[in-house]
Amino acid sequence: MSAILHVVGARPNFMKMAPVLRAGARRGLPQLLVHTGQHYDSAMSDVFFTELGLPEPDVNLGVGSGTHAQQTAALMTALEATFVEREPSIVVVYGDVNSTIAAALVASKLHIRVAHVEAGLRSFDWTMPEEVNRRVTDLCSDVLFATSPEAIGHLGREGVDPARVHFVGNPMIDTLLANLDRFDIERFRASHGLTGAYALVTLHRPSNVDDPDAARRLVTQLTSVSERVVLVFPVHPRGRALLESAGLRASDRLRVIDPIGYVEFLSGVRGAALVITDSGGVQEETTVLNVPCLTARPNTERPITITHGTNRLVALDDIAKAADEMLANPPHVAEPPPLWDGRSGERIAEVLQAETL
Ligand code: UD1
Ligand code: UDP
Repeated sequence: MSAILHVVGARPNFMKMAPVLRAGARRGLPQLLVHTGQHYDSAMSDVFFTELGLPEPDVNLGVGSGTHAQQTAALMTALEATFVEREPSIVVVYGDVNSTIAAALVASKLHIRVAHVEAGLRSFDWTMPEEVNRRVTDLCSDVLFATSPEAIGHLGREGVDPARVHFVGNPMIDTLLANLDRFDIERFRASHGLTGAYALVTLHRPSNVDDPDAARRLVTQLTSVSERVVLVFPVHPRGRALLESAGLRASDRLRVIDPIGYVEFLSGVRGAALVITDSGGVQEETTVLNVPCLTARPNTERPITITHGTNRLVALDDIAKAADEMLANPPHVAEPPPLWDGRSGERIAEVLQAETL
């Protein structure tokens, strides 16, 4: 019997895939795990496999970094050989990274079915590489797993047959809920020597960290926020050099550190008075943990984190002002988004099983 082949490659993929792989294993489904190697530093990849108790990938393609065209081409070439050799029954792709679109394109041209976990999210901002990745991936997908009702609406308006769309909730939140007991605020405080309130920062969108002017404005704002509250900023490797040349300096009030593992990061989020981010996943995690979140972007593909959650969009130059307001008046979650209940992996595996019978 041919296998369900999961493709992952970048940090946010791992926590989305974990509950699906586990639920598939519980059902005894034949499965293969392919890591493209898009992210390769141990703090961007290995740490998640260890902490989430994930098995070693069956295949690691070691594709690494490059321009969009170089990276996507290398991903496609390597994935094509793998799919031809392994003949999977279906390829499961996650989120909106280059590994996602590459796998979806390759599989669809080989006439292998594609299932997309986190289908239908739309920022309507074509300058984001992720928006291109999401749309093309959804076009290539046979089975579309939606995390929120808006996503179903977007897919419907784009002409996707509703029979192919499954509202399953959010597998990233499965991972969060399964690990909740491990998110230890006191331990985070102790290991970072934090005595009072602190805010956690994570930023890596090209629009914020690849443009020298945006990076300078960001650093100005963060420095200003750090006068009010201590900041802990694990820096994604993408932006480090430019942020440093834009003036980012580690200090007692602005702790600039390397990326941290999942348990440590979520421990930090859980205890934070505020999170400042441009990450997709972190907007969702703060909503579930009821932690105020400022998203330094003009738009979000996850509006449910605003309507149901703690998230607010903020312009780059307004971060310090918005941080003051949010610290003074923190938003609260009345009810988490529908089906963000820890059972999404199970729902997805059930559909995958039916699709591959
Ligand atoms: C990618 C995704 C983005 C996602 C993010 C999650 C695309 C187009 N972008 O962005 O949607 O939000 O991952 O973190 O797929 N680098 C390292 N070590 C690593 C990985 C990357 O140093 O392990 C550095 C390299 O200089 C590389 C740069 O980061 O060129 C960017 O990496 P890349 O995977 O191309 O995109 P991300 O910015 O990580
Ligand atoms: N994360 C982490 N350590 C960090 C920063 C983020 O473990 O230093 C986790 C975070 O909790 C979330 C995931 O990485 O689960 C999000 O990945 P990222 O922000 O890189 O990608 P995005 O969601 O923006 O695509």
